[in-house]
Amino acid sequence: MSATSSPSESATVSRKKKAGKKEIQETLLAPRFYTTDFDEMEQLFNTEINKNLNMAEFEALQQEFKTDFNQTHFVRNKEFKEAADKLQGPLRQIFVEFLERSCTAEFSGFLLYKELGRRLKKTNPVVAEIFSLMSRDEARHAGFLNKGLSDFNLALDLGFLTKARKYTFFKPKFIFYATYLSEKIGYWRYITIYRHLKENPEYQCYPIFKYFENWCQDENRHGDFFSALMKAQPQFLNDWQAKLWSRFFCLSVYVTMYLNDCQRTAFYEGIGLNTKEFDMHVIIEETSSDKHSQPYFPGAKLLVAPADYSCLHLVAADCSGWQSHGVIYCVWLQLELWLLGGAASKCSYSGRLWSCYLP
Ligand SMILES: [Fe+2]
Ligand SMILES: [Fe+2]
Repeated sequence: MSATSSPSESATVSRKKKAGKKEIQETLLAPRFYTTDFDEMEQLFNTEINKNLNMAEFEALQQEFKTDFNQTHFVRNKEFKEAADKLQGPLRQIFVEFLERSCTAEFSGFLLYKELGRRLKKTNPVVAEIFSLMSRDEARHAGFLNKGLSDFNLALDLGFLTKARKYTFFKPKFIFYATYLSEKIGYWRYITIYRHLKENPEYQCYPIFKYFENWCQDENRHGDFFSALMKAQPQFLNDWQAKLWSRFFCLSVYVTMYLNDCQRTAFYEGIGLNTKEFDMHVIIEETSSDKHSQPYFPGAKLLVAPADYSCLHLVAADCSGWQSHGVIYCVWLQLELWLLGGAASKCSYSGRLWSCYLP
């Protein structure tokens, strides 16, 4: 992978020839493709250099991934096409967007993990194989979602996207924070939707959700692996800068999720969920139930305080008019307020925002 790449002419031509292929709408909140400093990654996973690597723990995880619990899970049936044909009007369009964005996000994980698996093979074969096995899972998820798009007579040209789309560069420590959070949040989102639709089958309008129970266990395992990775890199967790950055990522991931979902309330309402309550539930479960989160993102737990629900709603409301700049605005505002400390708390509005960041 490269940090940035531009569309080749031949790829563009082949894309135009393929009818029914979807393009990704590029916005700040669209799922991104990531690349990182692979040389630094090799240093971090070198057992000669990093004595914190607990290889017994990684070998146990490797065995778990090799078991491949979901090998036979993602099998489609005729219900898919029948359900897609029944989805008409605005809900059909919003379903297509859901499939397209989810497929892009899963495929993004596939690309990053595949490259990490390839690059770490010599330095740390155990960690490298886990990355490769995770890329297997993500490819399966992306493929299943792309087949879902075929029920709507569409498809994402993933080969073209791999070459043509820009890659966002994150240093390894930011990859760890963001990916760990994404995997764990992914788990909570999938299981919440699955449980809700099991209790309210009248909203089960497309069968893909029935697969979420086992699917989310893949994401949970991926999160557990990143948890083990971060434990082996205490320099990314323990000093004041690391604490600040981990909180920054935690809040920015939650805000991004919230803004994305608030722009797509029609989808959540279409499956019988209240968007804000759904997101709050995911944040609460992620921050309070996941014992792994607390050592890495201690500031996150205050989001579960009732007074802070309105804080996040307020951030979303403020950002709705700002669109892409809103995310940057509110996240940096948080950071500034955290640094300013007591002075910021004198302003009631600022004080409420700042309270999300208290350790
Ligand atoms: Fe996935
Ligand atoms: Fe995953």
